[in-house]
Amino acid sequence: MTSAFNYRNGTLHCEDVKIDRDFLETYGTPAYIYSKAAFRQHYNTLKTAFSGLDAQICYSVKSCSNLSVLKVLAEVGSHFDVVSAGEIERVLTAGGDAQKIVFAGVGKRDDELAYALEKDIHHFNVESAREVERLNAIALEKGKKARVVVRLNPDVDPKTHRYITTGKDENKFGLNWEQGRVLFARHQELPGIEFQGIHTHIGSQIQDAKPYVQALERTLPFAHELRAMGLDIKYLNIGGGYGIDYKTRTNAVADDFAKAITPLLKNEPFKILLEPGRSISANAGILVTRVTDIKSSGSRRFLIVDAGMNDLIRPCLYEAYHEIWPLVSETDPVNLTEDERGPHADVVGPICESGDFLGLNRRLPGMEIGDGLAVFSAGAYGFVMASNYNTRGKPPELLIDGAEVKVVRRRETVEDQLRLELEA
Ligand SMILES: Cc1ncc(COP(=O)(O)O)c(C=O)c1O
Repeated sequence: MTSAFNYRNGTLHCEDVKIDRDFLETYGTPAYIYSKAAFRQHYNTLKTAFSGLDAQICYSVKSCSNLSVLKVLAEVGSHFDVVSAGEIERVLTAGGDAQKIVFAGVGKRDDELAYALEKDIHHFNVESAREVERLNAIALEKGKKARVVVRLNPDVDPKTHRYITTGKDENKFGLNWEQGRVLFARHQELPGIEFQGIHTHIGSQIQDAKPYVQALERTLPFAHELRAMGLDIKYLNIGGGYGIDYKTRTNAVADDFAKAITPLLKNEPFKILLEPGRSISANAGILVTRVTDIKSSGSRRFLIVDAGMNDLIRPCLYEAYHEIWPLVSETDPVNLTEDERGPHADVVGPICESGDFLGLNRRLPGMEIGDGLAVFSAGAYGFVMASNYNTRGKPPELLIDGAEVKVVRRRETVEDQLRLELEA
């Protein structure tokens, strides 16, 4: 996989655009930069890897939901996994088709269920018996039938961070086998519901296929049990979660997942759905920031930058590692040993919290105030988790296509924030 973000002639480029001082002056910092080619490439890599199956990729909108990004994915044929009425509205606004939307999420409100029914989305991934009962009542009131896929919790350990583990029995997601069995057996009592399949999503940032295989080994016999009960189970949604390597800025190899999963499903009668987010968006985006101050305390050297936990919360929330490197550099950091990289520094933001860091104890070359840094692999769970903490405006999002730069979301101003507040 070639990265869309490369050092050329001593400066980082995104596709054919040089991310130099002039660029930073023009667009300001902090800013998210996305590569259109990378979104397309990551989608196509997954699609090709799973081409041995009757499989459909539903891009997980929550990972990076800018309208222009959704448009790029709609154009390459992606379907969409959403988790709120707002995300449905985003997909439709971006020109996506309601019949390509699957609606997951624990805790959907009645108004969200009603909205999705009115828009005639493809189906609901339901997470509890009470949700199905509420959906049944809403569907009957509207004279409609809701197509439903039930999220089951296969109780497998995906060996990832505990905050992004979702398929163990202590997690809040889905139903266990027994609860699932009881729910499906009630199908005749629920005339507003058409049960169509099974959904599992075991977690995020998963590095190998084993947990998926384990989940399928548990899910497949259950799907056949339901068919034997006379239910028309058509869909098997095996979720997302395909990981990336934040150090090398590469995606886990899609072919390796596909090679392990395909033989289990090849001769099955189900249409397969996948819900990748991070593996499409993470390495399609970076966050750029500038050094605003430099200081030392004891043995620590601090590079204070203009992006913080309000712009990218992952380092603080998950202790996540993002590669950070100067925009001006003769060498890509992947090609350097630790000793060649430079002295230690903590890269910290402007927010009044000690947890406000982008990287701790990093080895970076000497930097001056005003120098630019790239925070890599920031396309997924980056901008979408940004906040206005400390009344800082959310950064702009820029989409690069070849040599063209488009501002696809402008920088938020203080006026934007104040406008939503009622007069004191
Ligand atoms: C139901 C569901 N599907 C798909 C995803 C996407 O996961 P990832 O970005 O790890 O591929 C998530 C992420 O939280 C999810 O909750």
